[in-house]
Parts: sequence; C-alpha cells; structure tokens
Amino acid sequence: MVGPAPGAQAGTRSPGVGAVSERQPASGEIGTAGELLRSLSSARQVYALYPTQHPKRTEAARDIAELVRKLGEVRGRAPALFVSGGNFYVGPTLLAWESLTLNRLARSLADAGVQSLEFEVHVSELDIDALVRLVVGEPAALDEMTAVKVNRATPILPTADLTGMAELLQSYAAGLELLRQTAARLLAGRPADLHATVRLTEHLADLISTDPAQALLLTTVKSYDEYTYHHMVNVCILSLALARAIGLSREQSLVLGIGGLLHDVGKVKVPQEILRKDGALDAEQWRLIQRHPVDGAGLVAVTTRDPLHPAVGIVLEHHAAYDGSGYPSLTGGRPASLAARIVAVADSFDAMTSKRSYRKPEERRQALAILQAGAGRSHDPRVVRTFVRLMGLFPVGSLVQLSTGDVAVVVRNHEHLLARPVVRLVLDPRGGAAEPVEMDLAEANRGGEYRWSVVRTIDPVEVGIDMLSLLASGRLDVPPPPEVGPGLVHEPAPGETPPPGYVDTHVAPGDGAPAHRPG
Ligand SMILES: [Fe+2]
Ligand SMILES: [Fe+2]
Repeated sequence: MVGPAPGAQAGTRSPGVGAVSERQPASGEIGTAGELLRSLSSARQVYALYPTQHPKRTEAARDIAELVRKLGEVRGRAPALFVSGGNFYVGPTLLAWESLTLNRLARSLADAGVQSLEFEVHVSELDIDALVRLVVGEPAALDEMTAVKVNRATPILPTADLTGMAELLQSYAAGLELLRQTAARLLAGRPADLHATVRLTEHLADLISTDPAQALLLTTVKSYDEYTYHHMVNVCILSLALARAIGLSREQSLVLGIGGLLHDVGKVKVPQEILRKDGALDAEQWRLIQRHPVDGAGLVAVTTRDPLHPAVGIVLEHHAAYDGSGYPSLTGGRPASLAARIVAVADSFDAMTSKRSYRKPEERRQALAILQAGAGRSHDPRVVRTFVRLMGLFPVGSLVQLSTGDVAVVVRNHEHLLARPVVRLVLDPRGGAAEPVEMDLAEANRGGEYRWSVVRTIDPVEVGIDMLSLLASGRLDVPPPPEVGPGLVHEPAPGETPPPGYVDTHVAPGDGAPAHRPG
C-alpha cells in the first residue's frame, strides 16, 4: 500500500521539537516550490557526476538558493516542503507534477531519511551544498546545515478527498516508473518484470473498485514529453474501469489491465526521431509505427514466457478495427478478442484527448461523440455503449460552465440523470479562483426545480488550466510544468482523420482508396 499522508511520519529526528503549524501555500508559492524541487533533482545528478568544488556544483547550489529566496519573498519565509509516500507536498498541498516526474529524487530523500524541509530565507550556498550531499548519500552533511531544517515541520493533513487522490497519484507514478524500466529492459534485450506489472495492475484495479470516479479523473493526466508512458497508464486505468462496468471477473480484468498497460510497448522499437517528429511522416515511417502491435506482442510473449498468454493477444489486436480493417490483419478475418476491443476503445479515447504534434486534443465529450460515430465500424458498439455510460454525458474530468456562471470540473456521474453530474467549483463567474466546493446538479429546491445546470463544456487547454494540478491540489494557481517538446506522434485512432503524410498500409496501392482507413 501507499505511504501515509504527510505529517504522519515526519519528525523522526526531533519529533515535535519546534513543529510549525503549516499553512496553505500562497499564490505563486506552489509553482516556485515545484521549480525548487526540479532544481534539487538536477543538482542531485550534477553532484553525482562532478567532484567537490566543481563549478557546476556551485552553480546548481546557487540556483537553488536563489529559488529559496524567491519562495520567501511572499511571506518572509519559505513554506515547508514534505516528501511522503513518494509524493511531494508544499504545506498540505500535493505537488502533482513533481510527484509524478521526480520519483528518483523522492526515493533519494526517503533513503536519506528526509521527510520535511524548511528553508530560512537567508540560506547560503553552503547550506544547499550540504543538503544536496545529504541527498546523494553523505549522511554527515546533515550537521553542516544551519538554515535548512530537516524533519522539524509537521504539516496539517490534506482533506480525505486529496488523500485518495494522493494514493492514486502514487500508483500512477509507480506505473510511469515501471514503464520507464520496462522500456530500458526491453531495449537491453531483457524481458519486462512480469511480477511488478501484475502487482501494479492489481493495485490499480483495487483503487478503481474503491473509487472509480477518482481514478477516471486521473486519466486527464497528460504529458507532452512522456506521452507514451502516460498514455499506457491511462489506457490501463480506462480498460480496468470498463472491465468493471462490463462485469468481467477479477482474473479477466487483471489480464485486461496488463494488456492495457503494455499495449504500446512495441513502440520501444520505433526510432525516437519518428515518434517525436513534429510534422508529416512518410510511408516508411508510418510503416514502422504500424509495426508496434506485432513487435509489442512479441515482447510481451517473451515476458510472459507464453505466446498464448491473453495479454499477448490484446497487444497484437489493439489496432484491429471491429469491421476487420485496422492493423495487423487478423488471420482468417477473425474478430479481435473482447479484451482487445475494450483496450481499443480506451486507447482511442485517450489518444484523441491527448495533444498530438499535429493537432490539439479533443474535448472529452467530443471524443465520446467520435467513438459513438465509429461504433459498429471502428469499435465494438456494445463496448462503446458501456464506455459512454461509464463516462457520462459530461465525462468525469470535463470542465463545465454552470447556469450561475461558475466553471466547475465534473467529479462524479449519477447512474441516471446523466446531464446532472456532481461537480467541483473551479472559477467564480468573474474568472477568479473559487472555493473547491462540490455541488450535486441533481439537487432540486423545494419547488422541485434544479438549482444549477450545465450550460456548456469548456476545453481546459483553451483556458490554460492544468487539470492534474487542479485535481490534486484543488487549486488553480498551479502552473503546468515547462513543456519540453511537441506532443509525440501517435498513430491515428480508428475513425480519426489522419495527419498529412499518413499512408494506410492496409489499402492496396493503386486501388484509388483515400489515404486513410474507411470510417
Ligand atoms: Fe498503439
Ligand atoms: Fe495506444
């Protein structure tokens, strides 16, 4: 299971001594705290590479000291940072992106026994130098710090809602790390770690059955520089939620989850310059991308040591369309398995709602409409129907404008009354940050009239909202992490208009067919 919320284990060095009453971070502090953690993570690498007194070490320490001073500008002192259960917090607020991406730093801090850090504003570069040395495994450096206090602060606990999200987030981060390791192992010619994959899938399945809506919210997490890994974890979560809605057994669901998690693993064999190419691909490049189901199935077969393992079939068939088109062509025109058809729907939905190098993401509601339009051709209509019911008329994670003028995020759907989800307020009618209050749009007043309604859906990308940080912290003043590069190219989902340069390898050359799959 996941570690306790911050505070539950803080203070091992001098428990309770000088404990501060932690407060909500002020506007701007969350972003700077994230920047500080990213700098600490880079410094960790610099210190591992360069010897004492090296100018690169000095430069890294200076950058961090500068960020501490910036953090202290708001209230005269920097807020305390916490690391707990693999997640980072500033005060009681979960730092979502840093928790997802800086897992090695979290581990190094945990290994060094660091659970909380407080910086005095006048921190020196020597203090920071000692801190980084502590992080890279020099325990004696702890006594050299004067303006950095380790394990003194005891934060207040986050609300139960955010604790649940923290737990999910940690499993999500574990999924990303597992996929990074899987890619490295496969590239080195070694099989993936099947036990770790099964354990993670089991854990995700448990979390999804505890609170499917929270888990679905997490699939709004997208990354531009690690698109494929985020996509694979999202597809795993969506597939497990679909399996639950369809009523599959736990055993069937786990196989489906493993297939979902590994479905694009064959992309390790696609050259990075093709995956990251910001423009049209030629026929040969698309041919290479379209090999990934076959390559992936081979890699999963080596991992499971069983070519007949159901996860192998899922990976092989996840781009096979319901009407027999898609790739690769299945022998004898046989249909794809139900598990592959489930993963295919989850895959298309997540791919469509992600940024590509050649177009902006679809709104979640629009993506459902595209899936429905392709039901019976691209996708199994029964699976699409269940998915649409699962996601609701306003899918969990959508931003909506209410009749009051407020903007809210959909956090739960009712079994019936699909147009009346439970939402959490995000912006007030004037565009300012709203208290994250939950409102049930199915609630009627005494006269039987609904009190609030959805007027329209809003695209979070258009209004510049980082959904992950919003969901994790309940706050809006969190900037997304710096964008490293363009979105990765992904193969067009069934029914989706392909980018220029796409060549359908299933259409025989010269038959006059359009350059994309029918439907
Ligand atoms: Fe794929
Ligand atoms: Fe995919």
